[in-house]
Amino acid sequence: MVIDMDTTKATLTPAHDSVPRSSPIHPLWLRVTHWLNAFAALIMMFSGWRIYDASPVFRGIVIPPSITLGGWLGGALQWHFAAMWLLVFNGIVYLALNLASGRFVAKFFPLSPRAVLRDFIAAVSGKLSHADLRQYNAVQKLAYLAVIVDLVVLVLSGLAIWKSVQFPLLRELMGGYDNARIVHFCAMAVMAAFVVVHVAMVALVPRSLLTMLRGR
Ligand code: HEM
Repeated sequence: MVIDMDTTKATLTPAHDSVPRSSPIHPLWLRVTHWLNAFAALIMMFSGWRIYDASPVFRGIVIPPSITLGGWLGGALQWHFAAMWLLVFNGIVYLALNLASGRFVAKFFPLSPRAVLRDFIAAVSGKLSHADLRQYNAVQKLAYLAVIVDLVVLVLSGLAIWKSVQFPLLRELMGGYDNARIVHFCAMAVMAAFVVVHVAMVALVPRSLLTMLRGR
């Protein structure tokens, strides 16, 4: 244990936690990149649905136009390509700051299948503690890591579709142009499922939303 001398009232901090208790739970750069990322990813998803409808990959799967963005194929492409730059550059800033500051390793590791199972069972039986919002539980760690990898796959498969001639290696890694479309769609479905569960979990612990808005 270490004593945090920055605060007028001394607080106890676990020795492995190098972040003083007086600092925000989520630093400003993290909050800004999170919300920009969520905004860009959702714009891409809703406009992507309209682009998909113009030439569905799967027979029988058509997205109701009323829940898509862009109005028509051309409009949806404009939204999709505009948000793409925000998602990619903001994502690079998020990953670079996270890795360079050591926050990425501190927040998401260690992580083991045993811990995920333990926290999952605790969560479904309503016994998971939300007292310390500075630390993610193992299920959260896995979900956040999974969606980060998923977004990277989404961007790379999108690039393989958009610039398929210019990036032949990427296209072949995706199994060819047609397969890249399937990879892109499946990665979108994973992201959509994450968002539904993520927002439901935030609704169950509304205090976590405050920390992502004002830092504490
Ligand atoms: C595509 C949309 C979204 C993605 C990809 C996403 C992804 C993430 C990731 C990766 C984290 C962990 C960040 C870190 O610590 O480095 C996170 C945290 C968080 N997100 Fe999202 N998010 C999305 C949308 C949303 C939305 C719509 C809300 C609000 C309802 C939200 C609320 C939060 C909150 C409150 C946390 C902190 C959770 C906690 O401290 O326990 N997110 N999100």
